[in-house]
Amino acid sequence: TGRGSVTMEKAIGRDRTVAVVGSGTMGQGIAQVALVAGHPVRLYDSAPGRAAEAVAAIGARLDRLVEKGRLDAAAREDAAGRLHAAGELAELADAALVVEAIVEDLTVKRGLFAALEEVVADDALLATNTSSLSVTAIAGALRLPGRFVGLHFFNPAPLLPLVEVVRGFASDESAATRAYETVKAWGKTPVRCADTPGFIVNRIARPFYAEAFRVYEEGAADPATIDAALSECGGFRMGPFELTDLIGQDVNEAVTRSVWESFFQDPKFTPSLAQRRLVESGRLGRKTGHGWYPYGEGAERPRP
Ligand code: NAI
Repeated sequence: TGRGSVTMEKAIGRDRTVAVVGSGTMGQGIAQVALVAGHPVRLYDSAPGRAAEAVAAIGARLDRLVEKGRLDAAAREDAAGRLHAAGELAELADAALVVEAIVEDLTVKRGLFAALEEVVADDALLATNTSSLSVTAIAGALRLPGRFVGLHFFNPAPLLPLVEVVRGFASDESAATRAYETVKAWGKTPVRCADTPGFIVNRIARPFYAEAFRVYEEGAADPATIDAALSECGGFRMGPFELTDLIGQDVNEAVTRSVWESFFQDPKFTPSLAQRRLVESGRLGRKTGHGWYPYGEGAERPRP
């Protein structure tokens, strides 16, 4: 093991603090997972008030779990007592693990980790939830890059079991093992992989979306027909058009672009022109009321 190695290969103890930086969609989900697993959790966000709002949102989600009988009331109270918003990065000083889920921007992420390293102990495990950036590149800013890994959760993090544990070029084996064991102890299904663009799932999914969009662009079939064919006969829970409407066309296109560029513009990952037009027109999917399909009151879904 090199400099900055995390020597302990076991899961991080439940009594140790887990910090989550970035309290948006993913940060909230990851914080909830660590909280329900029994850790004290600190949530930090650079937007003023955002972390406190996230704490309230997680509390409301725990309430719903109690209503549905999936969490007992005493466990909810106990969990709520362990969750705190942090007003400053310095309040994350005692974290044994920091999971970053901030904006998908290399420079901003590198800046955050350089600042975090000034705050946390040298044996704290540091992780990024990036979908499409290089784990190795983010770690490039660190004094002790050995303790840095990717922990790629899927949305919604409390529901989806898969977590890709990504070993960057400079990550120590023991840090990856510790991260793997920790998320496994949280009830997740971790898989290990190296730091290649898109990791496993986002990379293999690219040609799935791209080929469907091309079939549509060629006029071979419309979105509803392709979705029906894949979900009704292909065994997919959702077809590529309805799935990207759920993810957001902008988010999905950004990941495609990133994977394509990272593989030196390999034509296999070429982004779709039809999807580009959707993004340009603001038809981003469910979140804007229109994507490949219309949504909301009175929206008629085309038939296959
Ligand atoms: P989001 O936009 O919902 O939340 C990001 C949060 O980070 C915001 O609250 C923002 O105020 C905060 N933030 C931005 N810069 C910051 C900084 N320097 N320090 C502290 N907080 C900062 O984003 P989302 O969707 O939760 O994504 C976060 C990360 O997770 C990204 O890297 C994304 O690629 C990754 N991801 C997203 C998935 C998704 O389906 N949304 C799935 C898996 C990974």
